[in-house]
Order: sequence, then C-alpha cells, then structure tokens
Amino acid sequence: MTNDRPFLRISGGHSLSGELRVSGAKNSALVLMAACLLTRDPIRLRNVPALTDIAGMGEMLFSLGGRVERKGDALELDGSGIHSSAAPYELVNSLRASFFCIGPLLARMGTARVPMPGGCKIGSRPVEEHVKGLKALGAHVSIEHGVVTASIPGPTRRLQGARIVLDCPSVGATETLMMAAALADGETVIENAALEPEVVDLADLLTAMGARVRGAGTPTIFIDGVDRLHGADYAVIPDRIEAGTFLLAAAITRSRLRVAPVIPTHLCAVLSKLEQAGCRIETDGDGIILSAEHLTAVDLRTQPFPGFPTDLQAPFMSLLATAEGTSMVTESIFENRLQHVAELQRMGASIRSQGNTAVIEGVARLSGAPVQGTDLRASAAMVLAGLAAQGITEVFGLEYLDRGYADFEAKLNAVGASITRLPASARSGHGVLPT
Ligand code: UD1
Repeated sequence: MTNDRPFLRISGGHSLSGELRVSGAKNSALVLMAACLLTRDPIRLRNVPALTDIAGMGEMLFSLGGRVERKGDALELDGSGIHSSAAPYELVNSLRASFFCIGPLLARMGTARVPMPGGCKIGSRPVEEHVKGLKALGAHVSIEHGVVTASIPGPTRRLQGARIVLDCPSVGATETLMMAAALADGETVIENAALEPEVVDLADLLTAMGARVRGAGTPTIFIDGVDRLHGADYAVIPDRIEAGTFLLAAAITRSRLRVAPVIPTHLCAVLSKLEQAGCRIETDGDGIILSAEHLTAVDLRTQPFPGFPTDLQAPFMSLLATAEGTSMVTESIFENRLQHVAELQRMGASIRSQGNTAVIEGVARLSGAPVQGTDLRASAAMVLAGLAAQGITEVFGLEYLDRGYADFEAKLNAVGASITRLPASARSGHGVLPT
C-alpha cells in the first residue's frame, strides 16, 4: 500500500544554481552487467549508479552463480562460477531488464530458462523480437507456462550467425541478440537495430572483451562471432535521461544550472525542444549550462533514438504545464504512458488527454498537492512539478524513483531545492492521498 511507504516533501518555488553531477547510465549498466555472463574472466565496470535496479540485476547474477562486489562507483563482476541457466521468476518479475540475460546465458551455457517479464505500468512490453532473433541464430525456443526455454541443438552447442531483421528497433532485443551473436559461429547481421547510445555502450564493452562488432549506432550491426571472450575494465556512459531530468529541473524553476558529465549528442532532440521552448543552452567542456526565464509551448512526439526519448516525456510535460501557450505531447512508444496527466492535474495543470496524446495549456503557477509517481519517470516528473509549484508537494511512489535516480533529492538540494524524505507517518494530512 502506498500509505506505508516514505515520500518526498518538496517546498516549491526555490531558484536553483550551481552544478548537478550525472551518474552512470542505468539502462547501460544493467545490460553491461548481463554481458559479464559471456565470460569466465572478471569484468570491472566503473561509473555504475547505486540504484535498486542495479542491486536487482546483481541478485539475478548471484542467483545464477555469479559474484558481484561494489567498490565505490565500480562493480567487480565474476562469472566464473555460473552454474545455473534458469532465472528465478521473482527476479525477472521485479526487474524486467533481467530478461536480457537470456542471450548471454544461452550463448555461454547452451541453454537458458527465463520467465516472461510480463507487462508493466507503462505498457505490455512484449519480447517476441528477442525470441525470433534467438531462433534465427539456431536456438530451439519454446514458451510454456510463462517461461521461455531456449537451447542450442547439435553437438557444438554453439549458435550460428544469421541475418536478423527486427520488426521494430527494440533496444532490448538488439542488446539480447548482440550478446548472443558475440559467441556464435560466423557472422550475424542485425537489421533495423536500435540506435540508442546504450546499444553503442554495449558494443564498446563487447569489443573490450574481444568481440568483433561493427555498426552499433547505425541500423545495421555486424557481429563476427568469436570462440571466447575475456575480461575487461570499462566505464559506463553518463545517464542521458538523468541529465535530461536535471536540465528540466533548471528549466522548470527558471534557473541557471550546469549539468555534467553529459555527451551532448545523446541529448540532441531534448536540447532542441528545450531551445524551442526558450531555454538558453551552452556547452561547456563535458557539461551543459541551461538558463531559463520566460518559456513558451512546444509540441513533441516520442520516438526511438535519435528522436525524443519516451523516458523524458513525463518530465518534459511537467515543464510544458508551466510554459505559456498550448503544447501537444504524443507518446508513440508505449501504450499507457500518460498516467502522470491526472497527477499533474491535481497540481493545477491544465491538460486534456485522449488516447496517447495530451494537450497542455500552460498555467502561470502549479500548486503543491499530494501526488503519486505512477512509474519511474512519472515520479521524476512529479518532483520537477513540485520544485516549481507554489507551496508543499508530497510525492509518493519512491519505490519507482529509487530504481532510476541515485541520490536524487540530495543532488537537487545541493543546488538549492528544498526536498525532505519522510516516513509515511509524517504525512501532513492536508489533502487526499492518491492510491
Ligand atoms: C528500453 C529502456 C527503457 C526505454 C525503452 C525505449 C532498458 C532497461 N530500458 O526498454 O527505459 O523506455 O528502451 O527507449 O534499457 N517491442 C515489441 N516487441 C519486442 C520488443 C519491443 O513490440 O519484442 C516494442 C515495445 O512494446 C515498445 C517498443 O518496442 O513499444 C520499444 O521497446 P524496447 O525498445 O524493446 O524497450 P526496452 O528495451 O524494453
């Protein structure tokens, strides 16, 4: 029950200034951890954020016989003792990304049993592209009683390189298939591959482990399978979604903030929309400085990279709720990712939604209210709205927020925000708590 959980109390209306430090990319780190299953040698990953999702993937590797140790911002992963190829249901159910272990497990062990991850708050999250691709690489795959069982037939227990055309450029399927193909016999070509920076990060780690991968970051990825992969020491890229959230914190509070480290090309579509809305953006070494005063409406539609990321749709909508004029936001990746609209309305936002489109009339000021973060990025959107709102906002749903933002309130407080994490018992009772 929501009411038993801690929440954030935000006193809104403070101007922010200074610098926000961006952690390593959660979505990269999760898949890079899965890639450690491909070798018996140790892998050291640096710049890994301390998040509950990362801990969840650590548990998954541990359950398979791997060892994961955190040393500062680094994880030392040892897959030499992997003895199981069966992923436990509870772990896949609580961390969807752990399904991506199916590719490396199959390539390393010749067999893999991974429960279907099921849907989540934002949509149905199918995995048929992963399954079709593994079949194309020669695996026998069956789905029974909610479990995907894959095995490699024949004496060699090795996948065979193949040409795979994805029906949609799924990030997870591209990553699953890259990992599986890295140890396959012969060349694999993945067409209509996802272009996301996290795919390139995976290719770079695989290359550091001795894989032969070309074309990551383009729609066609070539992987020349090798017999074995070795250990590596590798730093995860900065989190473009956390960086975008911080830039939006500067914009929604009409402040000036430096956000670093950032790879600006990872944020092109977001920076372009922020500029269209009236933000001033300067790149400065490894950082971006955003300053905002008067902001106006913009339209946006989520798209695969390099288009506008679905993971920043909710946080951007918080900003548009405060920008002068009428904006239109269309979510085209996930079917149920506008649940934050109702919560923003509780804060005085003027938004109408139909299907996957929201029309937002900017208001001069949001007003503080108790609100519920309905998924990870929606929770961040609520915190942003609270920073700009008049009065006190209480944000519930921190179990989502903590999955993807390391030290979120501490980082924001260091640049002038006023956010306190409190136990459920400290509720002010000034409004009706959403369930
Ligand atoms: C990843 C990110 C997530 C982000 C998403 C889209 C991780 C851990 N998560 O999720 O934060 O929101 O990319 O940028 O990296 N699809 C199919 N069939 C499939 C697979 C996907 O139809 O077999 C569809 C999905 O329903 C969705 C779209 O493809 O509509 C994108 O999904 P996908 O790129 O696979 O997202 P994830 O890898 O799950």
